[in-house]
Amino acid sequence: MSDIKTVGVAGAGTMGTGIAIVAARAGLRTIVFDQRQEALDRAREQTAAFLTKSEARGKLPPGAATQTLERWSATTEIANLANCDIVIEAIFEDLDTKHHLFQQLDEVCNESTLFASNTSTISITEIAGGSGRPDRFVGMHFCLPAQLMKLVEISPGMSTSQQSFERAWAFAEAMGQKPVKTQDTPGFILNYFLIPFNNDAIRLVEQGVAAPSDIDLAIKTALGYPMGPLELLDLVGMDTQKLLCEAMYELTHEPRAACPPLVRRMIAAGRLGKKTGHGFHMYRDTKMFGA
Ligand SMILES: NC(=O)c1ccc[n+]([C@@H]2O[C@H](COP(=O)([O-])OP(=O)(O)OC[C@H]3O[C@@H](n4cnc5c(N)ncnc54)[C@H](O)[C@@H]3O)[C@@H](O)[C@H]2O)c1
Repeated sequence: MSDIKTVGVAGAGTMGTGIAIVAARAGLRTIVFDQRQEALDRAREQTAAFLTKSEARGKLPPGAATQTLERWSATTEIANLANCDIVIEAIFEDLDTKHHLFQQLDEVCNESTLFASNTSTISITEIAGGSGRPDRFVGMHFCLPAQLMKLVEISPGMSTSQQSFERAWAFAEAMGQKPVKTQDTPGFILNYFLIPFNNDAIRLVEQGVAAPSDIDLAIKTALGYPMGPLELLDLVGMDTQKLLCEAMYELTHEPRAACPPLVRRMIAAGRLGKKTGHGFHMYRDTKMFGA
């Protein structure tokens, strides 16, 4: 049984938007915070389009899209997260930026508010160390696209209390997600595999071995994955991929985790992936996946 009824999501980007849909769709009051109003406007637009499409496809009962949106709100004022039972952080993958956010959150939030980070690669113990409440801090790594994927990796840091871990676990289950427990190690389970694997696909493109569509087709056909690595990277975003590689490489010095030069060139060219309409593939619109 979860005691969490009001959810704060910090960061209205690719992941925050999807995580907020999961929470609001599960019947929880959900407040999305971002420092940029345009990110919140885009999140609202994407959320409305996704929910409307879900209802039209029969994945939600009639009226559920409107009801879900009524539970969803957006703010640029961090103080509006004060009464949340949990705040899930999904901002840039950078330790100092995350510390700064959690220090502000610690000042405004109730003592009982649980903090969670959706980080893919940074140590939960390190982020928690700058949060003012390392005992009430846990890793909750949702998977992309969060609005469709059930997996949540839940990672306790060294100071996370058993009660905080259990709260996060019950909350994930109450939202209909599938939690797994992992230790606080670089990449947890999923990105330990995915970051080097995706970089291998980028290096095949760099070397001119095959076209992105053929690499994706080969992986999907042979391994049965629903999406090829370059299609997935277009959803991840090249800006996020660069931060993930840098954080993972700094911790592990695994050569396959190092950011391929092509990623930097694509960022410089504005080819961030689906969010800018062009990455390894071209997109006619920048709607979120599934909308
Ligand atoms: N993209 C992925 O595939 C993926 C998957 C799982 C986890 N993650 C993790 O989720 C987190 C977010 O990644 P993303 O891809 O959604 O990033 P993103 O760049 O799409 O979005 C980040 C959002 O955070 C906002 N932001 C940045 N600093 C802020 C601050 N101090 N206060 C408020 N808002 C702030 C930005 O305005 C932006 O809207 C990262 O930690 C990343 O490692 C990403």
